[in-house]
Amino acid sequence: MRIFSGIQPTGVLHLGNYFGAIRQWVELQEGNECIYCIVDYHALTNEETEPDVLRKARRELALDLIACGIDPERTILFVQSDVPEHTELCWILGCVTSYGDLTRMTQFKQKAAEQEFVNGGLFYYPVLQAADILLYLADHVPVGEDQLQHLELARRIARRFNSRFGELFPEPQPILGKGARIMSLADPGRKMSKSYGPEHYVGLMEPEDSIRKKIRSAVTDIGLTPGQEMSPGVANLFTILELVAPGELVAELRKQHREGKLLYKHLKDVLYEELMNALGPIRARRAELSAKGEIDEVLAAGAARARRIAREVMREVRARVGLD
Ligand code: AMP
Ligand code: TRP
Repeated sequence: MRIFSGIQPTGVLHLGNYFGAIRQWVELQEGNECIYCIVDYHALTNEETEPDVLRKARRELALDLIACGIDPERTILFVQSDVPEHTELCWILGCVTSYGDLTRMTQFKQKAAEQEFVNGGLFYYPVLQAADILLYLADHVPVGEDQLQHLELARRIARRFNSRFGELFPEPQPILGKGARIMSLADPGRKMSKSYGPEHYVGLMEPEDSIRKKIRSAVTDIGLTPGQEMSPGVANLFTILELVAPGELVAELRKQHREGKLLYKHLKDVLYEELMNALGPIRARRAELSAKGEIDEVLAAGAARARRIAREVMREVRARVGLD
């Protein structure tokens, strides 16, 4: 399979990103041809993205991804704007995209409702996303649930192009993660996200003290409704624990909880220890990688490999539509 996925360089990677997405990206490298893209053009649709912050965030994210286990030798890891064919294909695909379909995109409607100035990039965002995928003739795309609609649109765009200009693009299928949805420690009613502020996420590379503090102060006791056996906050701590700790340990703590003997302070201490154990190698590798300072070269090599594929496909696209 040829796998493509993208992630925006907006802020640090947190536990939700890692367990919900990146860990799967790493696993998919086994036996597949993977292409992973840091989508900086997409990040520009966010009006708050500052130039210096964006410049830096792309490199930091690349370092984080490699530290997590993305292998830039096996996999093509690159920055979207290093391959300008993405925007060229985006325009051409836009011309086989239904305006009506774009107006029905949930993510666009939500974002547009939240802000006063709605830029055109936000409206075109899903077309660029389709171009990202189709430019590499990728057939599988690991994504979260919220991206399924965009992927459905990418398939419609591929079909429309193929039927008008002849079969070229495969219809890309989603690979849905195993669904570890991690909630905010400070408000377990919301998902862990960068958008709500630092108390709502735990960064993978955050200092130990800060992680310990966030876990210690995790909300455990509110939001219990009759019939629920565990409050959402405690359930969330168990969700994370299950991802990092041995099964017997989790089973033992669950048993203590059922029997009403579990002290939340103990649960939190165990979680902190197990989490730091699991993240230890990633954090160590991250420190080594940034000390090496070779990330620009790594990304340039990734872009060169991506571009070889992209150029070839664009040559064909131009010929099909009559632009050659
Ligand atoms: P975002 O930066 O929020 O757009 O997320 C990037 C990727 O991480 C997406 O593919 C999401 O599916 C995944 N992700 C983000 N937040 C969470 C979360 N709290 N739990 C699980 N997965 C998440
Ligand atoms: N929109 C995706 C997200 O927010 C990021 C993305 C951009 C993407 N291009 C992509 C994901 C192509 C998969 C394939 O998560």
